[in-house]
Amino acid sequence: MPKDSSGHLIGGLHTPRLAVPASIPRPYYVDVKDFDESGHGDLYNEEEIERIRAVSQIAAETLDILTAEVRPGVTTDHLDRVAHEYMVDHGAYPSDLGYRGFPKSVCTSVNEVICHGIPDNTVLEDGDIVNIDVTAFKDGMHGDTNRTYLVGDVRQEVRDLVDRTREATLRGIRAARPGRQVSVIGRAIESYAKRFGYGVIREYTGHGVGREFHSGLIIPHYDDPERFTDVIEENMVFTVEPMLTLGGATWKTWPDDWTVATADGSWTAQFEHTIVVRADGPEILTASPAGLD
Ligand code: MF3
Ligand code: CO
Ligand code: CO
Repeated sequence: MPKDSSGHLIGGLHTPRLAVPASIPRPYYVDVKDFDESGHGDLYNEEEIERIRAVSQIAAETLDILTAEVRPGVTTDHLDRVAHEYMVDHGAYPSDLGYRGFPKSVCTSVNEVICHGIPDNTVLEDGDIVNIDVTAFKDGMHGDTNRTYLVGDVRQEVRDLVDRTREATLRGIRAARPGRQVSVIGRAIESYAKRFGYGVIREYTGHGVGREFHSGLIIPHYDDPERFTDVIEENMVFTVEPMLTLGGATWKTWPDDWTVATADGSWTAQFEHTIVVRADGPEILTASPAGLD
């Protein structure tokens, strides 16, 4: 694992961009510099929800097959390649590839990296954790999901962080009901995280997803009812994706302009699902078909 003189993780070397067959339709934004994703709304009819569900299931299956690939000795590039091939083989475009200049098909975020890590020749070691964030695009819709994986034998404090981040994500999802402000999702997540003294990242949030990768709707992972006044409606689709840390909640971006790491080097975990809110509560569109998470 490459590190700087103060022991912080640094990036490795990037490999050439992977190809997507021309037969797979790509989102309009690929390799486009400036574009506006907002303004297309977050409500969907049943036919559209089924399309989001279908692509969300491809994303979830991609995470399922990656379970067998995560082990000491593999590179994050290997995980990217496996994910890329699975999505393409299932007729989906990897939404990350070419999104605002992102060079790879998934995000791989190791240990102190909070999110948006770029797959490279970094070799995973026994005791590490790695979050893999997969977004797939098919039939005009995106589905977005991530999990944090254990690499070999991980120390208990970190395993607890991972388990509680999964639980925080599910608590946030369960709080989503029509008529409530989106801030209730943040309240459920933050109040649970605070029990354990975990840091809660604020500047990276859940988001509306479906027709667009990031629709403009913000789903906070902390409690701020004055600021996050949007009201959840029936058939609204968005992600819940809290990032919790063993230390503080401040972060810095690496010179690659993507990778976001904790400022204090504390390790961090994340889980993400795409959900649709029904009259009687949330439905997880990226639920694992194999019951894995
Ligand atoms: N999938 C991430 C999210 O949850 C976004 C990744 S954008 C990328 O919103 F460009 F970094 F790939
Ligand atoms: Co997301
Ligand atoms: Co994501």
